[in-house]
Amino acid sequence: MRMVDLIEKKRDGQALTEEEINFFIEGYTKGDIPDYQASSLAMAVYFQDMNEAERAALTMAMVNSGDVIDLSNINGVKVDKHSTGGVGDTTTLVLAPLVAAVGVPVAKMSGRGLGHTGGTIDKLESIEGFHVEISEEKFVKLVNEDKVAVIGQTGNLTPADKKLYGLRDVTGTVNSIPLIASSIMSKKIAAGADAIVLDVKTGNGAFMKTLEDAESLARAMVNIGNNVGRNTMAIISDMGQPLGNAIGNALEVKEAIETLQGQGPKDLTDLVLTLGSQMVVVGGKAQDLAEARTLLENAIADGTALARFKTFIENQDGDGSVVDDVSKLPQAQYQIDYPATKSGVVTEIVANEVGVASMMLGAGRQTKEDDIDLSVGIVLNKKVGDKVKAGESLLTIHSNREQVDDVIEKLNASITISDSGKAPTLIHKVITE
Ligand code: URA
Ligand code: CA
Repeated sequence: MRMVDLIEKKRDGQALTEEEINFFIEGYTKGDIPDYQASSLAMAVYFQDMNEAERAALTMAMVNSGDVIDLSNINGVKVDKHSTGGVGDTTTLVLAPLVAAVGVPVAKMSGRGLGHTGGTIDKLESIEGFHVEISEEKFVKLVNEDKVAVIGQTGNLTPADKKLYGLRDVTGTVNSIPLIASSIMSKKIAAGADAIVLDVKTGNGAFMKTLEDAESLARAMVNIGNNVGRNTMAIISDMGQPLGNAIGNALEVKEAIETLQGQGPKDLTDLVLTLGSQMVVVGGKAQDLAEARTLLENAIADGTALARFKTFIENQDGDGSVVDDVSKLPQAQYQIDYPATKSGVVTEIVANEVGVASMMLGAGRQTKEDDIDLSVGIVLNKKVGDKVKAGESLLTIHSNREQVDDVIEKLNASITISDSGKAPTLIHKVITE
């Protein structure tokens, strides 16, 4: 087989066979196929697309390019959730103990945050003593006993994707549905998921700006999952404004605890219940989404979800008493209100910009080596669609420096107040087929 023949075939709009795709991924991972040929093929795919069989083959070739986590010692259907990334996205912290409380095993491998989107591990580490450096044995034992544990990234997962994603980044070929979908799905499958629930974000704070593009990506991933034997569902949710009220590590843990107590922000609660229902259905613990939702609502109402969060924290050496006393979380020295300059309705809170403002306070990393301040961030007191009077607080800045003029300048440019407006739709679509 010759790489140049594969490139020409795809250039001319023909489908590649599974053998050809394996040849490309194996050769590229080993270094036998050079970057210039791989980038040429990526560009051909960008213009000519891939059919369902090619997408499935590409995904599995990337899965098999490195280590695959074996979760077969964990009982039940291991369901993983993936979000395409957002600002203030606290869902994992709430979902993990919540679906565990109704019996769905959550064996989560998680990462740290980079840029203005926070990482689950960083957030959890704001709880005194909590850590994710546990052995695989302990991880398996905890998930079997209490249905939830989080471990840091281990092994050499999907090296082909790492290499190809890096190449796409500098060759104008990131924005291709078959390449994005196979990239994301390969990582979830390599991490051991039997079933996958996807939260594809749309709006100005998202990777996919339009609903149409988000839906294409969601459908592509659902098809791949189902074609390779992983039950997969997706929702498309709005990421115009940040999710919930809190943006920042410890602030989001507090928000997660409040949500598990049934007192969380409406949008976060809705999203958690929607995604959670899907996880419970694909996890085989309910017949349909309505039954699943009732189970989850009950677990919040009777306190079992919150109790499971406490157990989960204590299992990983954290101070579980934070769930009863959130003042034990790290707190910033200054709380500075940001007032509305005029009366009206909030019509825009640009998620990305608020995320960057929070990063400027120290809540996020600019580079992988940066230290972060777990206590700082932003809490929204108003959301899009809310009425506000001049002088009333729009949000509170939690900072460890007194001077926050740079942050305020950023916020000035990211929030709009107009005469009229309404709250955006949070969940645009549920894709289950
Ligand atoms: N995120 C990924 O993991 N892969 C892509 O190709 C794009 C976004
Ligand atoms: Ca939030």
